[in-house]
Amino acid sequence: MAKKFQREVLIALADTHGGHRLGLLNPETVFIEYEPDEEGKLIEYEEPAYLNPAQEWLWKHYTHDIEEAFKLAGRDPVTVIVDGDITNGNKYAVADRSYVHLGNQVIIAADNLDPILRHKKQLKALRLVWGTDSHEGGDRSATTIVHRIIKAENKGLDLKSYGHGLMNLGGVWIDFAHHGSSPGIRHHTEGNAMRWEIGSELDGSAADGDPLVHLYIRAHFHRRSQVSLTRFYNDVPHTAHGIILPPYQLLTHFARQVVKSPRRSRVGLAAVEIINKEIYKINWFVRSRENRVREIL
Ligand SMILES: [Fe+2]
Ligand SMILES: [Fe+2]
Repeated sequence: MAKKFQREVLIALADTHGGHRLGLLNPETVFIEYEPDEEGKLIEYEEPAYLNPAQEWLWKHYTHDIEEAFKLAGRDPVTVIVDGDITNGNKYAVADRSYVHLGNQVIIAADNLDPILRHKKQLKALRLVWGTDSHEGGDRSATTIVHRIIKAENKGLDLKSYGHGLMNLGGVWIDFAHHGSSPGIRHHTEGNAMRWEIGSELDGSAADGDPLVHLYIRAHFHRRSQVSLTRFYNDVPHTAHGIILPPYQLLTHFARQVVKSPRRSRVGLAAVEIINKEIYKINWFVRSRENRVREIL
């Protein structure tokens, strides 16, 4: 008998900022160093990664979210998009008290994908998206090297990395890139800019004869947002959703300044269910955390 439902799950996450002291760090990561001893014999030694309390909190939720998303998928195929800023880069690493060595940041970023690759038999595809230059070695080197490490360790995995994708998954068109509209600076204007962007992109796609996208995925702002918009083309309604992904990094000193001291930080991922060629549901595995020090004197 033919299968009644065609179902797929897309997991989208971003901004893991491997190497930053408030970024994602796999507790199993081990750095290997080489130094000669007093007689010139090469000594190889291991330096295990140390997780601070913030990183322990991030890792607990990240692994929980990945497991919950795969549980949601059941036996259906899963595609994963890692939407940029896979490392933090070394531009401000000294000031941030982070791992300065870009090589070690890349190792962290590759190890951070372990909880996903544990399910590789179920993985239809893994896409690594280029992020912000200053976070990826200035020339997106970090993503290029992580790609090579993952490819070498996972033969047969459908793995690609690029800057901007247009993917047809289970019959729906998904447009994804790291950079895009801001989620907005006020609570009551949240999503406005993205709604305008989606409308413009749909109209432009219709004019150019490009596919009408069903889901736009963006990141970079370290904030969670979701909007939907319906347009009519030749009297046929077309609904597109837009999501901005939260990070798996806590608020840095620099970010607090740029985004004007936000009260809370959210971390997590989106798991999108696609059923019978339609976006059925966008599930969020997200929680927030206080950025203020609360005290009563
Ligand atoms: Fe970022
Ligand atoms: Fe970014």
